[in-house]
Amino acid sequence: MQIIVNGRPHDVDAEPDMPLLWLLRDELGLHGTRYGCGIAACGACTVHLDGEAVPSCQIAVGDVGDARITTIEGLGQPDAPHPVQQAWIEEQVAQCGYCQSGQIMQAASLLARTPDPTDAQIDDAMSGNLCRCASYPRIRAAIRRAAAAGGV
Ligand code: FES
Ligand code: FES
Repeated sequence: MQIIVNGRPHDVDAEPDMPLLWLLRDELGLHGTRYGCGIAACGACTVHLDGEAVPSCQIAVGDVGDARITTIEGLGQPDAPHPVQQAWIEEQVAQCGYCQSGQIMQAASLLARTPDPTDAQIDDAMSGNLCRCASYPRIRAAIRRAAAAGGV
């Protein structure tokens, strides 16, 4: 089958029930998307499917069809970071970093549909993304900073 990841089509030979997370990491070498739990309980594997944040451990490759997949590698570039990535840098959000790609993908999806979220909307949108290092206050600050900067 062919899937579109970060704007590029890829011909892949995979079982239709393979989790998208496996394909991204093991077949395409996109290691920015993380494996945490495998049961939709942590958010580490969050990617965008047509702009919507989804847990890639729960998406079967055969169900992707022609939807556009975006991973953290395709959200921005080192010399042109996405506004959420820029805000993350400025707030120095990451501690160990393991959860952060999923957090950023979730936050980018939130701001794309709700450009100026309330604290309650932020907490609700981010509730499925866990951080063992408890970076939650900095995550919220970075989302506020990105919202204030606009352009998401
Ligand atoms: S690895 Fe997918 S939600 Fe935890
Ligand atoms: S920064 Fe360590 S788990 Fe979130």
